[in-house]
Amino acid sequence: MIKLRGIKKDFGSGRSTNHALKGVDLDVEKGDFVAIMGSSGSGKSTLLSILGGMDRATSGEYYYDEIAVHELNSSRLDDFRINHISFVFQNFALMNQFSVMENAELPLLCKGVKRKERRRKTTEVLERLGIRELKDRTVSQISGGEQQRCAIARAFLSENQLVLCDEPTGALDKKNGVEIMKCLKEINEVGKTIIMVTHDDSIAAWAKHRYYMEDGQLNATKKE
Ligand SMILES: Nc1ncnc2c1ncn2[C@@H]1O[C@H](COP(=O)(O)OP(=O)(O)OP(=O)(O)O)[C@@H](O)[C@H]1O
Ligand SMILES: [Mg+2]
Repeated sequence: MIKLRGIKKDFGSGRSTNHALKGVDLDVEKGDFVAIMGSSGSGKSTLLSILGGMDRATSGEYYYDEIAVHELNSSRLDDFRINHISFVFQNFALMNQFSVMENAELPLLCKGVKRKERRRKTTEVLERLGIRELKDRTVSQISGGEQQRCAIARAFLSENQLVLCDEPTGALDKKNGVEIMKCLKEINEVGKTIIMVTHDDSIAAWAKHRYYMEDGQLNATKKE
């Protein structure tokens, strides 16, 4: 489903150029659950931005199914992001002044699903993810972990295939971290493809495949 070849990303120019990605290759199959680990500043979030169509590689090729993402102009890249990607990021991608219900049901609203049906389906998913009782609170009135679950509920209800997660358990204690991972596993089991960045070995253990980002390069095993 995803094929990256020789992805490079430079920030800045001339002497101050920062080579954040130095030629990343990655293959991900539909339904995979991939964890990307690595130290701070190694390029993990940069890679997720490129995968999500939020940023472009400086060079290299990115294929998503039959789409040559690296060749898309910016309006096509926006369409690509809207139609294929769900984001589970901290402090990002939820509308703070709207309720949990309104945030989670957004993909159904966009598809034109009628209110009653929308509310029924969304309530069911909120129940599954254990945040049904929070449905009328705004995002600014719930905790970080609950916000992550709200973003996962929205990904669940979206037809978009690829779910990108940046430190989904980053700000959480162990128990809440495990709850988030159960939610992610659940959407993986209904067929979503997940690529998750994490610092935490016990969180990465939930994924089917693990990669290590080291100084702008992605390795299947950790270099000692
Ligand atoms: N917009 C930007 N402009 C300039 N440099 C950037 C920009 N974004 C990232 N970088 C640099 O690129 C490198 C990789 O950053 P990135 O955010 O991908 O790291 P990371 O692995 O996600 O780190 P962390 O674990 O701390 O989130 C870092 O050296 C960072 O300073
Ligand atoms: Mg990061």
